[in-house]
Amino acid sequence: MKRILVLTSGGDCSGMNAYLKALAKLCKKNGIKLFASMYGFQGLVENSITSFEYDDLGEIQNLGGSVIKTSRSKDFVTQKGFEQALANLKSWNFDCVVVVGGNGSTKGAYDLSIAGVNVLAVPATIDNDLAYTDTTLGYDTACQNALDAVVKIKQTMETCDRGTIIEVMGRHCSDIAVHTAILADADMIITKQKSFESILKRVDDLINFEKKNPLIVVQENILNVNELAKYLEEHTKKEFRATVIGYLQRGGAPTVNDNLLAIQFATKTVELIESAVYNVAVGEIDGKIIATKLKEAIITKQYSKKLLEIFAKYSNTPID
Ligand code: F6P
Repeated sequence: MKRILVLTSGGDCSGMNAYLKALAKLCKKNGIKLFASMYGFQGLVENSITSFEYDDLGEIQNLGGSVIKTSRSKDFVTQKGFEQALANLKSWNFDCVVVVGGNGSTKGAYDLSIAGVNVLAVPATIDNDLAYTDTTLGYDTACQNALDAVVKIKQTMETCDRGTIIEVMGRHCSDIAVHTAILADADMIITKQKSFESILKRVDDLINFEKKNPLIVVQENILNVNELAKYLEEHTKKEFRATVIGYLQRGGAPTVNDNLLAIQFATKTVELIESAVYNVAVGEIDGKIIATKLKEAIITKQYSKKLLEIFAKYSNTPID
């Protein structure tokens, strides 16, 4: 009987639990014994490993977060911690370790593979910042969560005749910002450093010529949205309010798309395990589930070209 270990790592996202449930179901069906490392790579360092059974899981596929917890392990990235993790793994004699997470986690999976561990990686991050795959678990849900929040905020701002600035997550990838802004019909999308003066110029045009209450969507890590709101309020005759949506984007039940993707990723994972193909990352390109060498899967992206192409044909909203 094959013995497989799964862990979730980094920023959690909706779809992790759906993936875990699907993996457990398929392992049961295929006679594979499944274990989980608690708190991601930290569980490898601390030998916090437990068996993980489909029959114990309940309805977790519709829950956000991860029932086996996650962390950004500081110990695993030290030589001592890494060696401890390797020693613990050796004692368990797993056929493969399945790492579910974003770019840092995929890099951790790659490091384990270099050290001789059989590894599979599954992309799960709201940021959608892994270059080898069109999409990641949690990204669709995060976009839906961000859009829902923007729509609600827009209603009250329109009623009060205010300008609106909304910061969304994505770390260094603009996909959530672009997706959300276009679907919410925003007037500006800011994904790069820009002076407040140049933003004011566009906002002035919107207010003076289109008589609008401008809606500006800003990618995180770019500028201080509260300072921008203050600046625009001081330099226009309009009130401005800023909202940082934050962790609201990361929680909640996964969308139907994320739930389905979780099942497809789990199915591919088990197919790879059954054929003993290791050291690859599962992903999706043009609707097809694929597997890419781990070395190529650790490359990140700052935006999805396909997404920008879709919106370029549709929207005039400038992406700055
Ligand atoms: O990587 C997912 C993410 O939610 C990013 O969008 C965000 O920048 C970061 O994690 C927040 O990290 P933390 O949970 O450590 O505050």
